[in-house]
Amino acid sequence: MKIALFKESRAGETRVALTPDAVKSLVVEGWEVLVQRGAGEFSHFNDASYEAVGATIADAPTGDVNLRVNPPTLPEIALLTEGSTHLSFLSPLLAQDIVKALNDRRVTILSFDLLPRISRAQYMDALSSQATVSGYRAALKGATSFDRFFPLLTTAAGTIRPAKVLVMGVGVAGLQAISTAKRLGAKVRAYDVRSAAKEEAESAGAVFVKLAVTADAAGGYARELTDEERLQQQAALLSEVANSDVVITTAAVPGRKSPILVTTAMVEAMGEGSLVIDMAADGGGNCELTKVGEVVEHHGVRIVGMANPPAEMGASASFMYANNVLKLLALFGSKGQLAPDWNDEVVIGVTVARDGAINHAPTAEALGLAHVAIVPAAKEIAE
Ligand code: NAI
Repeated sequence: MKIALFKESRAGETRVALTPDAVKSLVVEGWEVLVQRGAGEFSHFNDASYEAVGATIADAPTGDVNLRVNPPTLPEIALLTEGSTHLSFLSPLLAQDIVKALNDRRVTILSFDLLPRISRAQYMDALSSQATVSGYRAALKGATSFDRFFPLLTTAAGTIRPAKVLVMGVGVAGLQAISTAKRLGAKVRAYDVRSAAKEEAESAGAVFVKLAVTADAAGGYARELTDEERLQQQAALLSEVANSDVVITTAAVPGRKSPILVTTAMVEAMGEGSLVIDMAADGGGNCELTKVGEVVEHHGVRIVGMANPPAEMGASASFMYANNVLKLLALFGSKGQLAPDWNDEVVIGVTVARDGAINHAPTAEALGLAHVAIVPAAKEIAE
């Protein structure tokens, strides 16, 4: 069977879903791999490097399995083979027209955003791998945009005090931002609404800021705060933000707009020359003043709205993504043949829709379509 690797059409994207090394393993496994011309151009994998490992370069590839990093556009969907399988990040609730168009073509839709966060699935967890890149880049962006040192320096020309960095949102990205800022010598504090975050932040080297508001939800995620909780949180965070030189925000609630953690009043309380690095800008931003892809200056404070942060490091991000793809594909087939194990909770969890029927309940509800849950055969027999 054929796997098609596409060139990403999102503006500014540098990633590609498979590296030549990953293609090589698939070819050895028995898959025929078609690579869209120029697919790896921005992550420094040229067409010849894909051809050298057995792929065929095509201008308009079509596959039984179609691989991308970003959701396909409507015109790209029109070119997909009916009944084929598609894998990328999709955020199905935020891309309902795309899900509908794919489902209308009876494409089996796999979305990395829905992968169950269980230990066994860590190797295929592209959300985590890309968040690692984003957190690292956010800390570096803070260090390079700040016009003072991060570390404590005692020099003949005077003593420099370390920068005070506050990381808000201690998920995978936040933890990487903490470690990176620590390695650069900053004094790091961190804040999150999940109760488990305290221990995780401390193990990465931050001092945890504990507030009265906690918001744990199923699956280890945070839930959305109520209006009252949000106001309480914002009041408590004002002095924390005001006392920081660099605030890095990474807070997200899956499938929803990013919560506002840094208000205009907080920015106005910060010292001149301070920075807010908003890693959540693509999802609406964690700072009230954020503009995605722009640097906004307000009262002497710069707010950097990072657009698609993993694309700032296309080579490493693609390497990690491609490894995640390989691990996930191994659950969907082997020896060059698609043969998903529909009893596997990871296979079921990552599937938005199959054969024209929506498996993901919130997406079915949002689209006003019937929810047809994939039920493991073993469970069917037991019932
Ligand atoms: P995420 O990208 O969904 O959110 C980032 C962080 O923002 C989270 O820590 C969240 O608690 C925080 N946040 C949300 N709303 C907030 C608010 N109003 N104020 C402050 N902070 C807020 O998170 P990510 O990186 O996907 O991780 C979520 C959880 O999943 C973590 O507990 C992580 O350790 C866990 N996880 C488990 C894995 C596994 O077992 N395979 C793999 C990856 C993550």
